[in-house]
Amino acid sequence: MYSEISEISGISVQLPRSSQLQEMGDRRLIPLSQTSLHRESALKMSRVSPIPQCILNLMSISVSERARQFPESPIRKLFPLAEGARGRGIHVYQLNIGQPDLETPGPFMKVIHEFSQPNVAYSPSPGENIYLDALVEYYRRAGHELERNQIQVTIGGSEAIHFTLQIICSPGDEILVPEPFYTNYTTMAMMCGVKVVPLPTKVEDNFRLPPASEIEVKINDRTRAILFCNPSNPTGTILSADEMATLSRLAKQRDLWLVADEVYREFVYDGKTVISALSLEEIQDRVVVVDSISKRYAACGARIGCLVSRNPEVMKSALRLAQARLSAPTLGQLGAAAMRELGSDFFDGIVAEYVKRRDIVHEELQNIPGVVSFLPSGAFYTMAKLPVPDAEAFASWLLTDFSRDGHTVMFAPGNGFYATPGLGNDEIRIAYVLKEDDLRGAMACLREGLETYPDRL
Ligand SMILES: Cc1ncc(COP(=O)(O)O)c(C=O)c1O
Repeated sequence: MYSEISEISGISVQLPRSSQLQEMGDRRLIPLSQTSLHRESALKMSRVSPIPQCILNLMSISVSERARQFPESPIRKLFPLAEGARGRGIHVYQLNIGQPDLETPGPFMKVIHEFSQPNVAYSPSPGENIYLDALVEYYRRAGHELERNQIQVTIGGSEAIHFTLQIICSPGDEILVPEPFYTNYTTMAMMCGVKVVPLPTKVEDNFRLPPASEIEVKINDRTRAILFCNPSNPTGTILSADEMATLSRLAKQRDLWLVADEVYREFVYDGKTVISALSLEEIQDRVVVVDSISKRYAACGARIGCLVSRNPEVMKSALRLAQARLSAPTLGQLGAAAMRELGSDFFDGIVAEYVKRRDIVHEELQNIPGVVSFLPSGAFYTMAKLPVPDAEAFASWLLTDFSRDGHTVMFAPGNGFYATPGLGNDEIRIAYVLKEDDLRGAMACLREGLETYPDRL
């Protein structure tokens, strides 16, 4: 729509096509790479204030420069293509999104069904007392002694991540994050003006962390924290005791925060254990843990999470942020509080189910020629390298050009989980959140899709 550039009163601006230029007075054409005039840019560039009306007339109201840069979710970006496939009568197995298909436990549902208050009121900003007490008990059972005031209830783990970055970082600061990582860390960091500095890990090395020396070279004056997800979304890895010790030592020696996203804490397989950052006694003043009931209790829509820290300054700031957004969901907290009724064996059945699913996915991946994968130990994801030049194009093709007995499959393209440009282009993330039969059908689609894909390497 815009084709020519002009400078008026010191402001560079792209003008509408020539016909409309006739209406303009004083102008000089200059090159400018911007696609339209942005108000902030105009104000910055302008030597006159306010902006002259003739310029304002040319400007369409626009969002901030920061907002334009927020990345699209790689997990959801293929949704329109999936809709298209469904429109053609094709069933789409969704392995792109980490939404468990299991039932939310009965005690949660009972609370919601039996809620009898005349209105749904705000809950206190720190969280409902009944839920904070339940959380204290939950962490005690997991081996961590906490006071109520060391837990801030949040709107999902998402808000806990956002609060944490707001609290520990200033604009311009940097955080180190092992990549591939949960993609929303990027957007959260951008919201806070924080730069994500990736610590690359590879499927060929089972996504192990780089050695301390390679992490240390990435630390500079602006580095504030190491943020990691354990067990990891998207790789399914669990940090070893050595890796945790390395992170803990670096945090102490280099004066960093350690932010542990532990929303998959219970999803651990093969008798392995997750070392919570809450047990790193030496550095408790610099630990923040992000948590959530979304995956733990298959209650993603309840929107309940929490931020945990033994650092009183962190908790004071978290409360102020919580006060500004008033309250976390009241009903969600009441339902979550009822989870304390669940027996200690509650997770055994769930873990067994996910182990079965993981094994199906892993076995299928191992049997497809050219695929590189590894056996994940936790969460319900895995990243696999495919014999294709562009996994996003392949994932799109599966939705637009492929079907097997009326079925196809949707994956999240891998590149969106990396901050380093070019990495992950031949990878996909698989969320094994479907029942056995569906999972087998989905993997059969992947196998046959790869056999027939015209651009297969
Ligand atoms: C690693 C990780 N952290 C945090 C979240 C946020 O979850 P929620 O906001 O639903 O608690 C997710 C959701 O997928 C996740 O995978």
